[in-house]
Amino acid sequence: MLWPSPSPSPGRSRSSSNTKGDAALSAHRQDPVRRLAAPDIAARKGGEPIVCLTAYTAPVAAILDEACDLLLVGDSVGMVVHGLPNTVGVTMEMMILHGQAVMRGSRKAMVVVDMPFGSYEGEPSIAYDNAARIMKETGCQAVKVESGPTVPATIDYLVKRGIPVMGHVGLRPQAVLVDGGFKAKGRTEVERERILAEARATADAGAFAVVVEGVAEPLARDITAAIAVPTIGIGASAGCDGQILVTDDMLGLFDWTPKFVRRYADLKGEIAAAAASYAADVRARTFPGEAETYFSKKP
Ligand code: KIV
Repeated sequence: MLWPSPSPSPGRSRSSSNTKGDAALSAHRQDPVRRLAAPDIAARKGGEPIVCLTAYTAPVAAILDEACDLLLVGDSVGMVVHGLPNTVGVTMEMMILHGQAVMRGSRKAMVVVDMPFGSYEGEPSIAYDNAARIMKETGCQAVKVESGPTVPATIDYLVKRGIPVMGHVGLRPQAVLVDGGFKAKGRTEVERERILAEARATADAGAFAVVVEGVAEPLARDITAAIAVPTIGIGASAGCDGQILVTDDMLGLFDWTPKFVRRYADLKGEIAAAAASYAADVRARTFPGEAETYFSKKP
């Protein structure tokens, strides 16, 4: 169990008079915090916008949890945290480790973990084994897969076996080597039709929501109108049912960000200034000072 429950210890009888145990039990029953899950997100179609951000670590997940409906442990972790050039090199072990951290740090947001490149595009039964491993080892509420010709059949296979799946259409970062870079998609009629068909197939296969990445506004609106489950946009205009950003982008940790990112902080500047102040203090021998020093106890 990931969250210690305040219920009485297992050997203790519920009927014995035990005020502390009873109080703990009733506090547990009244605890209003329940983690959101796939049906809650699916029910928000056309309603209150769904707020999503990526998260990769426990402390950041704990900070984001209050503001977000959904935290995505995106395979962007490969680029953002591990310095990879794209997401192709991300492994199951990386996703599980970061998924576990985000589950430990968060409490109320739904946690979705990306299935990494190579873990779901082949046989549906192999995708099932990998998805089930992610669910069991992290405790997350769903997995996400990027679209492709074989993927709707796999989504159907996973959902029928109890694994909630989020789809991902438009710009597909895992397909960057075949799609030719991180460029907006759906700008020609042929590509537009293909992406719309992929979104329909993803939703029809049973996905509870679909990420729409890097597409022009009219296509994002058409996808949102065409499918019965929520669309979560990233670089896909306000015409989606919800929005997601890579947290490190919106916090201003990088010099360059794509056009669709709005920076809500300048953490790169703050961290650089903090490091410079620390370095100056160490060099001037003003850190550590008395306040940061242990002294012997007086006899
Ligand atoms: O990996 C990721 O962070 C994502 C988002 C960009 C949606 O898939």
